[in-house]
Amino acid sequence: MKRILGVLLIVMALFGLTACGSNNNTKPTVGNASKVLIAYFSCTNTTEAIAKHIETETKGTLYEIVPEVPYTADDLKYYTNGRADMEQADPSARPAINGTVENMEKYDMVFLGYPIWHGQAPRIISTFLESYDFTDKTIVPFCTSHSSGIGNSDTNLHSLAPNADWVSGRRFASGTSQSAVSDWIDSLDIKLTPDVAVFDLENGENGRAPTVTLNSGYEMPVLGIGTYSLHGEICVNAVRSALESGVRLIDTAYMYGNEKEVGQAVRQSGIPREEIFVITKIYPGSQFSNPEKAIQDALDALDIEYIDMMLLHHPGANDVKAYKAIEKFVEQGKIRSIGLSNWYIEEIDDFISQVNIMPALIQNEIHPYYQEQAVVPYMHNLGIVMQAWYPFGGRGHTSEIFNNETIANIAKAHNVTSAQVVLRWHLQRGVVAIPGSSNPNHIRENISVFHFSLSDEEMSAIAALDRNEKHDWY
Ligand SMILES: Cc1cc2nc3c(=O)[nH]c(=O)nc-3n(C[C@H](O)[C@H](O)[C@H](O)COP(=O)(O)O)c2cc1C
Repeated sequence: MKRILGVLLIVMALFGLTACGSNNNTKPTVGNASKVLIAYFSCTNTTEAIAKHIETETKGTLYEIVPEVPYTADDLKYYTNGRADMEQADPSARPAINGTVENMEKYDMVFLGYPIWHGQAPRIISTFLESYDFTDKTIVPFCTSHSSGIGNSDTNLHSLAPNADWVSGRRFASGTSQSAVSDWIDSLDIKLTPDVAVFDLENGENGRAPTVTLNSGYEMPVLGIGTYSLHGEICVNAVRSALESGVRLIDTAYMYGNEKEVGQAVRQSGIPREEIFVITKIYPGSQFSNPEKAIQDALDALDIEYIDMMLLHHPGANDVKAYKAIEKFVEQGKIRSIGLSNWYIEEIDDFISQVNIMPALIQNEIHPYYQEQAVVPYMHNLGIVMQAWYPFGGRGHTSEIFNNETIANIAKAHNVTSAQVVLRWHLQRGVVAIPGSSNPNHIRENISVFHFSLSDEEMSAIAALDRNEKHDWY
């Protein structure tokens, strides 16, 4: 149904039937994952179409500059001395804008779109530029026209936002394709880095990991503890020990058979509930076919008021149904964020077209011998946080990775352990890690990676170790 609606809306847009300023986004929202704003003024939808291509490419936020007094068809007739002609002839004209950009301060880059009116940007663009502080923001102008080039319409705007970093503008013909816009964006020497790809590691301390803001709006620590294979008292003690060491992110799953123990350790820790982030997962098979029960079972077993994040353990029959059931629990406030585990590029696009809430996180096998060099940036571009299970390579492979000459030499140079080097490498490439351990010394060591950093050369040396070698079947 959503797809039919989407096609209908595209057809309507092509025939200019949409209301000026409507935003028909049938994709799940990415939330605050991006720092890109696409602000545009468009009266007959030509510029809007380009703005939407830019939105698709950058996953930025679309903002329409809507005039307080709409332009009628007569206003737009040029060479008639109509409203548009008169405004263009008056350099001091500042047509008022209806509404404002929310949180302008969070954007680093502003694509600014307008139609060419008598060789220049419409005066409402001047109103827009004078309404905000663009210091340290990059502005990328783009325009559409009947036939004129961009001329000096972009450079003439510079004095209105003198502290911005202005990029040369680009004119597009009506009906320019998505791929042409994509090529233009690729050609700009700009880096579009979603928030989820770069962690604020300078703000971390040993024993206190910084957080990343998920597209759901919640904050999650970038380093935690995995509890796979920990059971009974060993599990309770490991989680307690982790919490005492400052770990605030705990990963469990129905399949691990230890949700009760994790919940017990969280409740008994004395740490305020909202300071701890707990992830659990439901499993394909009977849990996916009866997801409401599976989710309620997890809530009951953990018994910690709410679950911070629930994942589908891996793709399987009824996964969309299971995800949609979790969405209902999100609406009720019993679960805060949703994610996926063992999901790859082949599966993600089709999956997100069928659900309403964009996944906030994907947890996959990632380590120096299986780095997912294509998957990680792909998911980051969707605003999805990446998280590594088996961050050290997994059972039977850990010592091989720790003794790897490159890693061991880097560890020696920084006077840290190989485990610390590998964790720091994960974090510096924007991957959250959840190393599993029941050894209090190792747990402490694992949360102590904030007193050193790896150089670009060291990061590249570890990147070169990739063997595309998976250590588990998922
Ligand atoms: C008042 C006015 C002046 C215009 N002046 C020019 C012009 O100088 N050169 C040109 O090629 N097109 C000119 N146009 C055409 C628009 O630039 C063109 O149709 C544009 O793509 C419309 O964008 P929109 O649909 O986003 O409003 C003008 C249009 C208007 C309304």
